[in-house]
Amino acid sequence: MRMLLRVVGVLIVLSLIAGAYFAWSLSHAVALPAGPVTSVAAAKILLEPIADGPNAAQLRQGQYLARLGDCLSCHLRADGEPFAGGLGLNTPFGVIYTSNISSDPDHGIGKWTPDQFYRAMHDGIGGGGQHLYPAFPYPWFRNLSRQDDDALLAYLKTTTPVAYQPPDNKLVFPMNVRAAVAVWNLLPLPPQPGKQTPQGATAEWSRGEALVLGPGHCSQCHTPRNLFGADKQGEAFQGGLLDNFVSPDLTGNERTGLGRWTVDDITEYLHTGRNARAAAGGPMGDVVTYSTSLMTDEDRHAIAVYLKSLSASTDVDVTAADPASMKRGAAVFSDACTACHLENAVGQPTLFPPLGDNAVAQQNDPTGVLHIILAGVRVGPSPTRPSPLTMPSFAWKLTDQQVADVSTYIRNSWGNRASPVTAADVAKLRSTLQLDEVRLTDNSGDH
Ligand code: HEC
Ligand code: HEC
Ligand code: HEC
Repeated sequence: MRMLLRVVGVLIVLSLIAGAYFAWSLSHAVALPAGPVTSVAAAKILLEPIADGPNAAQLRQGQYLARLGDCLSCHLRADGEPFAGGLGLNTPFGVIYTSNISSDPDHGIGKWTPDQFYRAMHDGIGGGGQHLYPAFPYPWFRNLSRQDDDALLAYLKTTTPVAYQPPDNKLVFPMNVRAAVAVWNLLPLPPQPGKQTPQGATAEWSRGEALVLGPGHCSQCHTPRNLFGADKQGEAFQGGLLDNFVSPDLTGNERTGLGRWTVDDITEYLHTGRNARAAAGGPMGDVVTYSTSLMTDEDRHAIAVYLKSLSASTDVDVTAADPASMKRGAAVFSDACTACHLENAVGQPTLFPPLGDNAVAQQNDPTGVLHIILAGVRVGPSPTRPSPLTMPSFAWKLTDQQVADVSTYIRNSWGNRASPVTAADVAKLRSTLQLDEVRLTDNSGDH
């Protein structure tokens, strides 16, 4: 009995560690993604025509799945070769580097069998039999079929072999013990498609669900996680925090979610990274560049139809903003922000997002807004809109109090309503982001 208790105790501790690790390991790289020019160029390989041949249909299917699964957002480092990996994903416990999945026989997956690949995509077991960290979205990819996985592998084997070895992970003990992942794997997995189909759902709705819960792995970012790093029960798509970016609520909530968006608004955003309401920056910019901008119109439409069916999250009470802070915030806004967002923050459609009735501005957790103001942000380029659009960093121009005031102001003007922000919130994030000179220069202009 005592032995059993001890084993259970160890399991609980391990799963706590693994859970916490998982939650954090979802963080995206703090390192900036490859510059806009490189990224559009790299994404082009996913659109290269595949010559007719005996297995052309399978290869085309595999190439399309690589777009749906957003593989290049992660398996491409700045100035690196497509699929060679080596992008560092920053976590508080150190850095995880993405694997080389090019066709190289020694450093990539050139020698892999379909069984091996299926085990990786379905069970998170790597080429060396090791447990893979769930920063690799296998909990979502496991919803692909065996036939899909075979097609993906066949396609990856046609990519240019790259003899490049990604650096070893820099994780501290005990996070460097891969066995901890086995315990995490016992926790409930993200929902599977086809399990809760509402009555009267169309084939298009089901396609949208399969894309969102499967290769699109949208809930990896957009669903909040519990202490164990598993999806919070009953809060699917209500918004998540990763790497200090807030992935907004995608439910029908009219303040924080997509309640005011039409199906066409969503489709346009996924296609071009912009629409009359918002622009896709940060981690979502990568998703647009490497995945949603390269999907078929039918698939984007199906995703939009599925998202529009998500019932609204429950709204929270919002504390009123202090009038003095609002007044100071209005002055900062007029000074620093109207050049792009214009008076009354009406914005310029598809160039600078309007900030009124804006869901990103009104998320319950202000971290995302603060991150955008402090660090600046770049809209993800896409084939239809290849030119970069950048919002500069204000970290060096504005004090903590000024950032707090302007945030409180934009969160409570032009129809917006959200909790006020304090200078202490800003100071905390500023120190977490460790904004250094290099990053500021990098972020504050195009190169
Ligand atoms: C969110 C980032 C992310 C995305 C998106 C992603 N991967 Fe990965 N992938 C990783 C990370 C991180 C690892 C390494 C995990 C580890 O070392 O435990 C990895 C590892 C792998 C491995 C195991 C390689 C080995 O040598 O064991 C395969 C296979 C793989 N990914 C395939 C894919 C494919 C195919 C796609 C697209 C359908 C994809 N990945 C999308 C992050 C990602
Ligand atoms: C790597 C994390 C990540 C993944 C994966 C991801 N998103 Fe996002 N998403 C974000 C972030 C962060 C934002 C906010 C972007 C901004 O502030 O400019 C966002 C914004 C959005 C928005 C706009 C919301 C608004 O109110 O402005 C939509 C729509 C969206 N995502 C849909 C999707 C869909 C559909 C998928 C899956 C195909 C997906 N996302 C996958 C992180 C992610
Ligand atoms: C040089 C032009 C420029 C200036 C000046 C500027 N912005 Fe932006 N802003 C942008 C662009 C471009 C985006 C789209 C990036 C994105 O959404 O990820 C953006 C996005 C935003 C967003 C996110 C909206 C959304 O839908 O994703 C917020 C919030 C924001 N800006 C606030 C501010 C505030 C506050 C200031 C002044 C302190 C400011 N901006 C100054 C260009 C600018």
